[in-house]
Amino acid sequence: MPTQNISDRLHTLTGTYQVIDPRFGRPTCPIELDMGCGKGRFTLALADRHPDRLILGSDIMLGRLRKVAVKADRRGLRNLELLRASNLELAGYQIPDASVRRVHLLCPDPWPKARHRHNRFVTTDFLTRLARILEPDGILHLATDHLPYLDDIRRIVADLPLFCPAPAACDDIRDIKTDFELLWEAEGRTVPHLVFVRAPSPA
Ligand SMILES: C[S@@+](CC[C@H](N)C(=O)[O-])C[C@H]1O[C@@H](n2cnc3c(N)ncnc32)[C@H](O)[C@@H]1O
Repeated sequence: MPTQNISDRLHTLTGTYQVIDPRFGRPTCPIELDMGCGKGRFTLALADRHPDRLILGSDIMLGRLRKVAVKADRRGLRNLELLRASNLELAGYQIPDASVRRVHLLCPDPWPKARHRHNRFVTTDFLTRLARILEPDGILHLATDHLPYLDDIRRIVADLPLFCPAPAACDDIRDIKTDFELLWEAEGRTVPHLVFVRAPSPA
């Protein structure tokens, strides 16, 4: 099934079994994916900062993406595409293998109650899907204000042979805050970031 365009840059992939062309016909350039981009503060700033890269912002909430599309149009950003998609489907099969330079998963819902924890994105299965879409030296960038989730993320990543710490690999965007990050910081909470590089595949 072809990607349905809601506006020029907003594509709905939900419920479709397809592999997209993440460049949308553009020439080759590095691709960055902001998963669960929400209101898009980080996504828009990333596109502004790196006009030579293609930035993909994805979220399940169509209303939020529409607002991001309006802001992107107002700013005249030509390097930003928005995907209405579920994180699991996007990383599972909708994005081609080894196509993304950096994946950002920032302030995902922490699901703090034990009975809801199965809803969290950062699991061994999800990280394996992310490793699939990352280029060989691709970067995984995570952040959360929820410290128990942060500890779990560290442990899950450490138990996998897929990623190695690469704290400097997002230094160029260290100053860019997400909408949720600003909210949490205004409440006095800290939002630690974790950055990893895709480990080389065994020979
Ligand atoms: C807590 S907000 C964080 C938004 C943004 N990254 C930020 O830091 O401001 C989590 C976002 O993930 C999105 N989300 C939740 N479940 C999703 C799913 N299954 N697939 C894609 N996005 C999802 C929500 O719609 C929401 O915009």
